[in-house]
Amino acid sequence: MSETSGSNLQWVPKASAIAREAGARLREFFAHGVETEYKGDVDIVTVADRTAEKLIREKLAEAFPEHGVYGEEGTRDRMEGEYRWYVDPLDGTTNFAHGFPQFCVSLGLEQRPADLQHGQDGTLVAGVIYDPMRDELFIAERGHGSWLNGKPIHVSKTPDLAESLVATGFPSKKRHASPNIHFYHEFTLRSHGVRRAGSAALDLAYVAAGRLEAFWEFNLNPWDTAAGILLVEEAGGRVTDFAGGHFQLNSNEILASNGLIHYELVGLFKDLFTGRDLTPIPTAKEFAELRAARAAVIA
Ligand code: IPD
Ligand code: CA
Ligand code: CA
Repeated sequence: MSETSGSNLQWVPKASAIAREAGARLREFFAHGVETEYKGDVDIVTVADRTAEKLIREKLAEAFPEHGVYGEEGTRDRMEGEYRWYVDPLDGTTNFAHGFPQFCVSLGLEQRPADLQHGQDGTLVAGVIYDPMRDELFIAERGHGSWLNGKPIHVSKTPDLAESLVATGFPSKKRHASPNIHFYHEFTLRSHGVRRAGSAALDLAYVAAGRLEAFWEFNLNPWDTAAGILLVEEAGGRVTDFAGGHFQLNSNEILASNGLIHYELVGLFKDLFTGRDLTPIPTAKEFAELRAARAAVIA
């Protein structure tokens, strides 16, 4: 069976070949190990990020000479065009740099009509996410569904948070300004668990594939999310902001789910934002006191 399973896809076949080639380069770098540089606080970048972006930039220009390219490592080519690729050449750099094999290449294509107002999004029309360590290629084109290695994928049918496995991520910039640990706390106590695997694009692909029921994060960028959003939507899921409103590519918040638990998640976000207390757990000090008391009884 071909990767696109007979569907007549316009952009994904070439983009898939490019993502695979970039992924193969990442795999080589991963095998040999790379030096890391700091972009900020704990925000790191490697020669692999830059090499993969250069390759993708050149190959996209050959394959789609009219298309724009907006890449995490600085590419801003043909920004005035009707089509724009959002490129994350290596999503999961921290994992990559530590030898933790969870990272991917993410390419998302937006169609931008000429009369788009400033700040308005166009329409996401294609998405490719490639995990080179598992050789998993997730693809979507608007109206043609989502596919993993040639097979159609769908979001899960789990109807409530209590039976869900969900995921999130934490920023590598301004970490002290992020409230996400409170959401992590509450979601952990109300679900089967929260995974923080370190690649937002793969998290979204996993929601599309039904491996996760939901994913949320603060302050992502379009190169992290563009491809994954289309994958989730084409797999039957929903993507909004935390209030359930329309998602914008430059939005500071993303909530993606299988659709069935979306309303429940939006309600929980609302409750927490309006001051609902977190479900209590013992503080470390309280726990230490209990532990000491137990030890005294045993002694
Ligand atoms: C990061 C990953 C991570 C997310 C961070 C992103 P990068 O992207 O997607 O999962 O939590 O917010 O910045 O820097 O590895 O491309
Ligand atoms: Ca990223
Ligand atoms: Ca990246």
